[in-house]
Amino acid sequence: MEKAAASAADEVFLDLEDACAPLEKPNARAKVIEALRAHDWQGKTRVVRINQVTSQWAFDDLRDIVVQAGDTLDCIMVPKVRNAGDIAFVDRALLQLEQVHGFEPGSIGIEAQIEDAEGLMRAEEIAFSSTRLETLTYGPADFSASLQLPSLTVGNTYNYPGDIFHYVLFKLAVAARAAGIQVIDGPYLLIRDVEGFREAASRAAALGYDGKWVLHPGQIDPANEVFTPSQADFDKAVRILEAYKHATEVERKGAVMMGDEMIDEASRKMAQQFYSRGVAAGLAPSPAELEEPAAAS
Ligand code: GLV
Ligand code: MG
Repeated sequence: MEKAAASAADEVFLDLEDACAPLEKPNARAKVIEALRAHDWQGKTRVVRINQVTSQWAFDDLRDIVVQAGDTLDCIMVPKVRNAGDIAFVDRALLQLEQVHGFEPGSIGIEAQIEDAEGLMRAEEIAFSSTRLETLTYGPADFSASLQLPSLTVGNTYNYPGDIFHYVLFKLAVAARAAGIQVIDGPYLLIRDVEGFREAASRAAALGYDGKWVLHPGQIDPANEVFTPSQADFDKAVRILEAYKHATEVERKGAVMMGDEMIDEASRKMAQQFYSRGVAAGLAPSPAELEEPAAAS
């Protein structure tokens, strides 16, 4: 937990669910509360994963964590979400706890993990289930078990001709974007296989994902690299934004050529998301971009 607090990850979640042995679950709550309080999380999003809402632990997890560390917490992560009711339960329980313990009502967010057949089937209703919902996250390990995939790790062990998770990742992305929330890919279990991690992360990034879980410090840099636009793409986005602004505001044209490419309002929207992601990752336009005025005709 100390390493996580000092890492270059954007978010840290402390786990009370599957990384925590059943006999240790009650003790783990106190450790998580202490860690939330003790460490300097350096601006990271701080999240605790509680147990599934149908388990014997979820209610106590939620109450103990919020009552004793609610002021140090950004979100609750809910695993194995199967329907909107699972999120409604957490939403209302949080509202009661916030009111009784003096936190701003609605201030604690929710991240929903979709990791079984029913959850995927109801991804759309889950995505719209609460104004607290900030993120849909894929759980490939539980999902593989739920679907009875013939795999002993996360991934394509039977050489299926294609990406076995493509449909899942795409469906979750559509549901999350429809609801205007983030979408995050889950873990890659082979922690020493950095190239395998990079490949899996790249597939999620290509589908517009905002990020991917990391299980080990060695996965952090590759994740940050994959989800940060390249300098060339960032610079191109800046050129498109400038050319479009000039076209619409000075020339009063909605569509213009930039090199061999036509750009219009849709191009502006595509460029804007590269620009926003790049700025969030600390990129700035290359000096050459700032000197040369964007060429458009
Ligand atoms: C994560 O929780 C997973 O099941 O992959
Ligand atoms: Mg899981």
